[in-house]
Amino acid sequence: MSERVFLCSVDALTNGEPKKIEVAEYEPLVVVAVGDRYFALSDECSHGQASLSEGWVEDDLIICPMHSGGFALATGEPELLPCMDPVKRYDVVRDGNALYLTS
Ligand code: FES
Repeated sequence: MSERVFLCSVDALTNGEPKKIEVAEYEPLVVVAVGDRYFALSDECSHGQASLSEGWVEDDLIICPMHSGGFALATGEPELLPCMDPVKRYDVVRDGNALYLTS
């Protein structure tokens, strides 16, 4: 049976703007709404000590503010150099006005 953990309310997000969310027992996350799709990734860039929530969203990628590397929001896979390693991606589900991490 899958478990779900409250992430944030839908209202807490602005479309296309990364937001850092801290959830107990998880690493810091960057959460993004793109239309009615919701994404959660590890907030720490795999290339260096930069916070992806301080970056921006472009073409379904989140762009790191440090060296402009990018990761696919849907998978966490690196899509733009200098990033070579993925960042962890989490499943997100919406239930009413609430978003949950699921496992
Ligand atoms: S620290 Fe993120 S691209 Fe370099």
